[in-house]
Amino acid sequence: MFKIAVIPGDGIGTEVTSQAVRILKKASRILKEQFDFTELKAGGIAIDTYGKPLPEETLKAALASDAVLLGAVGGPKWDSLSYELKPEQALLGLRKGLELYANIRPAIMFDSLIEASSLKPEIVMGIDIVVVRELTGGLYYGRPAGIFEEANTRRGVNTMTYTVPEIERIAHTAFKLAKTRRKKITSVDKANILHTSMLWREIVNGIHKRNYPDIEIDHMYVDNAAMQLIRNPKHFDVILTENMFGDILSDEASMLTGSIGMLPSASIGEKHALYEPVHGSAPDIAGKGLANPIASILSAAMLLEYSLKQKELARKIFRAVESVLREGHRTADISSGSTNILSTEQMGAEIEKKL
Ligand code: IPM
Ligand code: MG
Repeated sequence: MFKIAVIPGDGIGTEVTSQAVRILKKASRILKEQFDFTELKAGGIAIDTYGKPLPEETLKAALASDAVLLGAVGGPKWDSLSYELKPEQALLGLRKGLELYANIRPAIMFDSLIEASSLKPEIVMGIDIVVVRELTGGLYYGRPAGIFEEANTRRGVNTMTYTVPEIERIAHTAFKLAKTRRKKITSVDKANILHTSMLWREIVNGIHKRNYPDIEIDHMYVDNAAMQLIRNPKHFDVILTENMFGDILSDEASMLTGSIGMLPSASIGEKHALYEPVHGSAPDIAGKGLANPIASILSAAMLLEYSLKQKELARKIFRAVESVLREGHRTADISSGSTNILSTEQMGAEIEKKL
């Protein structure tokens, strides 16, 4: 029995997650393997219920599961809370608590949505990039951090820090992934100025030489990488980078495809894994059946691929999504001109039928 912790969270999180669960139930029938789903609270809904964004029960149950499927957290209702109480802390707490150091964010071009990109079709056609973002180090977790009183002012402080083992393990994740793809990595840093980046580059080069000499590697400064992503995105296959750079570049990469609302992600550690759409909780459209469940459904596909090693079934889900789109089915967010607009639930049903 495979235990899946389901954390729908806030806003459209609940709506899209229920469609992803529907696809996982279908997968369980196809695989003839039993999935045991446990629903847990985190984010704003946990603040409302328990007074904190990540209750101990949720973390404990997530630790006891084989995989976590998350929707989205946050909303204007909780924006004014103090730092420790914000819904986003649930994400940071889960990442640290489950030691999810590798965040894998594919940016894939769906041919039938090429018009949705803000770049020219010939630039973005066929884009297939994966950002491998370090997720439990760097500025997000480095100490000291805080706003400190000084004699005549206050000082905001964050610390960017990486140890050698932290760099090594994320580099291995990226190289291993590159082996299954075009055998090409771009490591992104700021080694002309940051000490963490100098160490990063040295360690990545060492691992490359020792363990993966057949993989092609190039190094880019992060400002240049941001530019090259727009200029010639097809240069990139696997992008390996630290936490903050990865946060920024993964949004940029996903928007090249015009479909940030369609993209999934996996956050993986030695023992645990969490899967979630790249998009947020979209409070403005929550509860109306307007949300696009595809990112969540593709996150479920990543769960099957990475946690259950069912790569073939994951491919099938991806192809089911592609053909539903090719047939002209759209949710409102990607509807441009289409008359065939489906609700969240109808889109889930269409994909299930195709699968
Ligand atoms: C993301 C988000 C989070 C991050 C926020 C919500 C804390 O932007 O998952 O990319 O910065 O990691
Ligand atoms: Mg982000």
